[in-house]
Amino acid sequence: MTDHPATTTKLKNLHVITWGCQMNVYDSARMEDVLRPLGYRPVSQVEHADMVILNTCHIRERATEKVFSELGLLKKIREDRLAQGHDRMVIAVAGCVAQAEGAEIIHRAPYVDIVFGPQTYHRLPEMVARAARAGGHVIETDFPVDMKFDFLPAEAAPQTPENLSAFLTIQEGCDKFCSFCVVPYTRGAESSRNVASILTEARQMARNGVRELTLLGQNVNAYHGLDAQGATADLPQLVRALSRIEGIARIRYTTSHPRDVTQSLIDAHRDEAALMPFLHLPVQSGSDRVLKAMNRGHTADEYRDIIRRFRAARPDLSISSDFIVGHPGETDADFEATLALIRDVGFAQAYTFKYSPRPGTPASAADFQVDEAVKDARLQIVQKLIRAQQDAFNGALVGRDVAVLLTHKGRKPGQVVGRSPYQQPVIIDAPEHMIGRIVTVRILHTLTNSLAGELIRETICA
Ligand code: 5AD
Ligand code: SF4
Repeated sequence: MTDHPATTTKLKNLHVITWGCQMNVYDSARMEDVLRPLGYRPVSQVEHADMVILNTCHIRERATEKVFSELGLLKKIREDRLAQGHDRMVIAVAGCVAQAEGAEIIHRAPYVDIVFGPQTYHRLPEMVARAARAGGHVIETDFPVDMKFDFLPAEAAPQTPENLSAFLTIQEGCDKFCSFCVVPYTRGAESSRNVASILTEARQMARNGVRELTLLGQNVNAYHGLDAQGATADLPQLVRALSRIEGIARIRYTTSHPRDVTQSLIDAHRDEAALMPFLHLPVQSGSDRVLKAMNRGHTADEYRDIIRRFRAARPDLSISSDFIVGHPGETDADFEATLALIRDVGFAQAYTFKYSPRPGTPASAADFQVDEAVKDARLQIVQKLIRAQQDAFNGALVGRDVAVLLTHKGRKPGQVVGRSPYQQPVIIDAPEHMIGRIVTVRILHTLTNSLAGELIRETICA
């Protein structure tokens, strides 16, 4: 545990605005944890905040511009608060845009107090103290060798008792350098948290009522963390250890890379009951030419073969992916190859993106950028195909009984919502006190992005 600098007993309000992936959601909760000993407690309204952190994401288009426009709003809120006699609001920018833009943020928005990258938030208390002392800017965007996780407060259990399904980051960074992607530049090299610290956090979560863990990492199946004996544990070994924790009934992981799929991971889907039958394995394209240009390190047939092996181990596995249309050089024939791969595999869901250039990445400098109108047209086609496959996958569940972990109240009175093993939200009529249980639900019909069902048994089906 870190030694925090002089703490103050005066309570202060903290508001964290989170963009982007689940790893950012996890990081935001950890930022709240590290600032708690300094008297900061989370508030929902930015106008009431003594400190605001913008936890940014760089993966989507125009991320930087969005940050500057949000900062402009925060500046105005700070001025209004000062006019009303409140203390000066501390403004901090975190996450991948902070990492990528660093000093540029202070240059363009000099009223920002703190800029820190994804690897440094465990030093946040010290940064806050430094910013208060110096009245100047603090920029922390290096990649320290020590992993930030090892410095988080031991009691950092973000979960409230109602929070039954929680994220747990086990791995960060990426060495793959896909042509289009900023992650290797913003999140740094692949690194894995050690087994003991993950187990400690998971046990704490389980004590707080968590029943489902989603293990997070940019390349989560590249996980290789040190265990207590000084040996290296891989993802299936970690899953096995986590599944023995009392209270943890379900384990998921995301995002994985085809190159890091091992036979033991596939086998774990057959052998580990706690490992849910859902796999998010991005392929990005079905064309070998494009996959090569993307530097993905595998072919379309290799991907098909990996899926075949997963399905041999776990026939009901639901498969998800990410696709990019319009990568530089993508022809009509390449796009057709993507559609062919989608038809061959049959996805339960997928995220589809139009390629958009990220400054500093090789693809952004490539010749043969695809016309925006062509990208639009391809996106529509691929989305329609994925939609049809998603409807087919969900439709096939109608009439079947599935185990649902009930996690929260539905929008309508009397409704409770949970997730199927395959990841879809399932809505049933049930009393609120059943939240937290895993029950057997018969699926009645499909909704746009979820399933409607009825409670069959208050225990899990065999
Ligand atoms: N353009 C479009 N999509 C991108 N992704 C990452 N970088 C880009 C980009 N420059 C998508 C990939 C990745 C997902 C998280 O975001 O499909 O798997
Ligand atoms: Fe980005 Fe490729 Fe690494 Fe995924 S594997 S984070 S797409 S560079």
